[in-house]
Amino acid sequence: MNLHAAASAGTVPDQTTPAFASDAIAGLTQHPKQIPPKYFYDATGSELFEQITRLPEYYPTRTELGILRERAAEIAAILPKHAALVEFGAGAPTKARLLLEACEFAAYVPVDISGDFLNAQARGLRKDVPHLQIHPVTADFTAPFGLPDQVRAMPKVGFFPGSTLGNFEPHEASRFLRGACRILGEGAHMLIGVDLEKNERVLYDAYNDAAGVTARFNLNMLARINRELGGNFDLSAFTHRAIYNRERHRIEMHLISKRPQTVRLQGRSIPFRTGESIHTESSYKYSIDRFTALAKGAGWTPIASWTDPDGMFSVHALVC
Ligand code: AVI
Repeated sequence: MNLHAAASAGTVPDQTTPAFASDAIAGLTQHPKQIPPKYFYDATGSELFEQITRLPEYYPTRTELGILRERAAEIAAILPKHAALVEFGAGAPTKARLLLEACEFAAYVPVDISGDFLNAQARGLRKDVPHLQIHPVTADFTAPFGLPDQVRAMPKVGFFPGSTLGNFEPHEASRFLRGACRILGEGAHMLIGVDLEKNERVLYDAYNDAAGVTARFNLNMLARINRELGGNFDLSAFTHRAIYNRERHRIEMHLISKRPQTVRLQGRSIPFRTGESIHTESSYKYSIDRFTALAKGAGWTPIASWTDPDGMFSVHALVC
């Protein structure tokens, strides 16, 4: 989101290097230190994220899929027929496929910063769903972009699964939702997956898995800075920490310096104290009420929401 720019993007194109360098230097020379989470998703980070989605502790992916599967008929009844499904940040296409099978969409418009990744996904889908028009758009979905001419006249349904919205600061989430309404046009629908507040132990475990995959995902940020920006981070001198910040309703991921050290990056020296943190990600958790208030404040009308039986995750249908 991306965040990411695409939480689920594949390899990130070379043009991002200057932005990565300036964001990394700006973030590491401020207090507290931080690096935007969109830089998690190089090829290694995207692969590690795919592994995270299959971990026993990481409930969001399988819970959201369960909701979409269980509620597919209800969702299909709410959405317009022969619409274009516009997916913001197209990752593994499992969730979109579920909707494409359940609803009568005329077109699928996956939007992602990684064109190569999009085209590979589109090729697979074209074989399986031959009647569907597929028009990938290579763009940073957090900024304004135009929809393909071929879908202009169709009703639009936005799709933003995975609780990627949770990786935005609340003001960014609101800006994204306003922008999505402008892109899709008045009267458009939106289906959005949002992770819910819950027992703190469950949240803690989801971001501190026993196999250490989330720790590797977090540390890959430093490996990526070394690889792409010529930094000299010693990965063994940092440790992964994820905590739940109850006041702010968010999981925070940090990389903690194990000792005093100085890292060299692009001609700069960056000092670290023992225990000093680099804040790499926030993952906001919402209540149904707090999410619907956010959506309303950004110009959307909530028309339905669904959760799993344990109230772990939610999927919302909105109209703008
Ligand atoms: C992509 N995003 C919704 C994930 C999340 O849960 O916030 C990223 C993640 N970070 C650690 N584990 C998963």
